[in-house]
This record gives sequence, C-alpha cells and structure tokens, in this order.
Amino acid sequence: MKAESSKGARGTFSNFGFLMASVGSAVGLGNLWKFPYLTGTNGGGIFVLIYLCILLTVGFACILGEMTIGRFTKLNPIGAYKKIAEKYTFAGVIGVVVSFLIVTYYNIIGGWILKYLVSYLFGQSKVVSANSEMFFGNFISSAFEPIIWTFLFIVINLLILKAGVIKGIERASKFMMPLLFVLLIITAIRSVTLPGAFEGIKFFLKPDLSKLSMSTVSAALGQVFFSLSLGMGITITYGSYLSDSANLEKNAVMVPLFDTIAAILSGFAILPAVFAFGFDPSEGPGLIFVTLPSVFGSMPGGVIFGSLFFLLILFAAITSSLSLLEVPTSYLIDNKNWNRKNAVYVLSLIIFLISIPESLSNGIWQMKFFGMAFFDFVGYIAESVLMPLCGLLMCIVIGHVWGTDNAAEEITNYGTLEFKAKSYWSVLIKYIAPILIFGIWLNSTGILSLFGIV
Ligand code: PHE
Repeated sequence: MKAESSKGARGTFSNFGFLMASVGSAVGLGNLWKFPYLTGTNGGGIFVLIYLCILLTVGFACILGEMTIGRFTKLNPIGAYKKIAEKYTFAGVIGVVVSFLIVTYYNIIGGWILKYLVSYLFGQSKVVSANSEMFFGNFISSAFEPIIWTFLFIVINLLILKAGVIKGIERASKFMMPLLFVLLIITAIRSVTLPGAFEGIKFFLKPDLSKLSMSTVSAALGQVFFSLSLGMGITITYGSYLSDSANLEKNAVMVPLFDTIAAILSGFAILPAVFAFGFDPSEGPGLIFVTLPSVFGSMPGGVIFGSLFFLLILFAAITSSLSLLEVPTSYLIDNKNWNRKNAVYVLSLIIFLISIPESLSNGIWQMKFFGMAFFDFVGYIAESVLMPLCGLLMCIVIGHVWGTDNAAEEITNYGTLEFKAKSYWSVLIKYIAPILIFGIWLNSTGILSLFGIV
C-alpha cells in the first residue's frame, strides 16, 4: 500500500505548472544548439523519424518511470530509491551528483547568454557581431568577466528557487515557457521567410538514407536522453510534487511532445537564417555565440531578432538550471531537514565556487584531465558516464526490483485512472530501454571505441 504522503510540506504543482516546469527543464540548449545540427548532419527527415521512434519507446518509458517513482515516494531521488529498493539507493546518489555536476557548468553557459542578451539590449550588438569568433573566444577565456556573469545567472536562479516550488519554480515556468514558444515561433517565421531560406530547410530535413548507420541511432538515443533531462533525478524530483490525481501517462506523452516541437521549431528558427546569409551551420556554443551573432549582424532588424533570440535562450537555460538545482535542494530538505532558503544559499555558493575553476579552464588554467579541459571533463563524467548509468539503474529497479505492477498501481492511482499503455510500457522498461541505454553507455563512455567496435 502507499505510504502516507508528506506532500503538504513539500508543495504540490498544479498540472499545468508541472507540465510547464517539466517542459522548461527539457527545453534547453539541447534543443537549440544540438538538435538542428544533429538532424542536418545525420540524414535530415530520416533522423527525425528515428528520433521520434526512440522518443515513443525509450523516452516515454523512462520519463514515465521517473515520474512514477517521484510521485509514489514524494521524495528526492536518494530518498526515493531508498524507499522502493534500498540496495539501489546509490542510483539516487548518482542522480543527485549528476544534476549537481551539470549545474556547475550549465550556469557558466547561462552567464554567457546573459552577457550576450545584455550586450544586445544595450546597443553593443555591433561589437559582438563584427568579429564574433574573436569576441567570443576573448570573452570566455578572460579570467574575471565570465565569472561575474555566472554569478549573476546563479543569483537569478537562487531568487526563484528560494521562493519555493509553487511560488518559485511553477510561477517562473508558467511565465517563461509560453513566452519562449511565442518567441521561437516569431523567430522561426522570420527565418523561413528570408530569401535563400530554403537551403537551410533542405539541410535540416531533406531525407538522406545514406547517412543511416548504427551511430545515427546511437546519436538519436543520446539526444533523447539529454533532451528529456533523463537520468539525473529531475523527473523524480518534479514528479514528487505532483498530486495523486494527476494523470502520469498523459504527462509522459505531453512533455516529450512539447520538447520535440521546440526542437523542430529551433531547426526552423536557426538553420534557414544561417544559410540565407551564407554561413556554415555548426553545433554547440559556436552556433549560438559565433554563427548567430554574425547572422544577426547581416539581417535587417538583426538587433531586435538577436535580443529576442537571446531572451528565449535565457528562459530555456533558466528553467533547465532551476530543475537541476532543485534536485540537490530537495535532498537537503527531505533527508537533512534543512530549510529551503539555507539549502539554496549553501548550494549556490558551492556551485559558484566550483564554477570558478571550470570557467578558468576555458582560458588561463591549462591543466588537462584525460586530455580535456576541466570544464569539458566535468561534462564528460556527468553526461557520458553517469547519466546513462542512472537511467539504466532506473529501468532495472522499476522493471526487476520494485516491479511494474507496483508502478502501474501508482500510475493508475490505485485503480482510479486508466493506464492504456501498461503492457507496452512494461516490456519497454524491463527489456528494451535498459538494453538500448546500455548500448549508448558503452558508446558514450568510449568503451566501444576502445575495442575498435565503432
Ligand atoms: N534537457 C535540456 C536540453 O535539452 C538539457 C538539460 C540537461 C537540462 C540536464 C537539465 C539538465 O537542453
């Protein structure tokens, strides 16, 4: 039977609030700077098709699994795993560690976005776009400036998070996410109506079967995982703030759906504009901080579109970093009895201190860790090693320890709601998802290439 819930003290999201907060976590840099290019270089429409297949299988299975653990236990990931499968408490520990590690460098990128937005708003866009590559390189490698912007970005997060789950996270997400979609649609319309935009659409979506390979599938799987913010306890934590009557199955469809709409809209917002002005597409920070400022520099009304664009990325980054920081925060509140404000202050301070050497490793601090700068090394450990591992353990725990029948009881709220996909979901979470995730883990850690397999 279900244990007594302690939700009064924890706060409960409204259903719309949960949806916006979860979509806010999911829609982030993965949608904006990774999905469009990944699609363009991996077979266009074919890649989108593979991505959707994985989303409807592994993505759906894992997001519903995490939500269910969260709502059943009403606890942070460590408390949650301890409650449903004590021997696997370490899976929760990994989740908390992953979100903590990611937020240390995610905030640095958040700081860069803030700097660019402020530059656009205060009439500095020409300075940014005149020689965008040099400008960006000089900025991120300088010692003090990025750290100051990171600090400001952390303060924004802190102010929202200390206000609580409802007054902070829910309220911010309900404001930022709808606006983000509106801004994304406006920029997409501007982009596809530019002369020469068609080349970009062709690059983005033209199906190219010859690009199809195992590594395409692996790339799609990795992207689904990152984009849905899986394997780091976020959905467990947000699920713990859901009311018992909320329909988990429906939410597990809606979040991936909105996330994918955002990813496809980003493709339309970015690639046609890049091609229309004769630039080469790329991915990652280079796309957002180097290519796009040049595009805005050549575009009539570029200052306005640049400002809107950096504002929308800022919203995407804030709602993602809030979700990351909420994971260790909820751990300190649940398990260590801290009050929320203290938890948020202390965590923000530690995170800021760790982000200093990370930021310096983009410039003056040249030490390498397995050939990587500290900034990239932390990213590798969190995203490539620990995140898939955490997802894999989640499938094992639900599928083979706690059991899909127990989970289904929670999903149906003890028989009061229908769970249409029950048998489909059970097979996915027991067998298909763990096998595929194990595959990406071998690939993303580099173990496969060590044996010369890919
Ligand atoms: N899901 C986010 C994206 O697509 C990234 C993210 C990862 C957010 C981890 C939070 C935590 O960009």
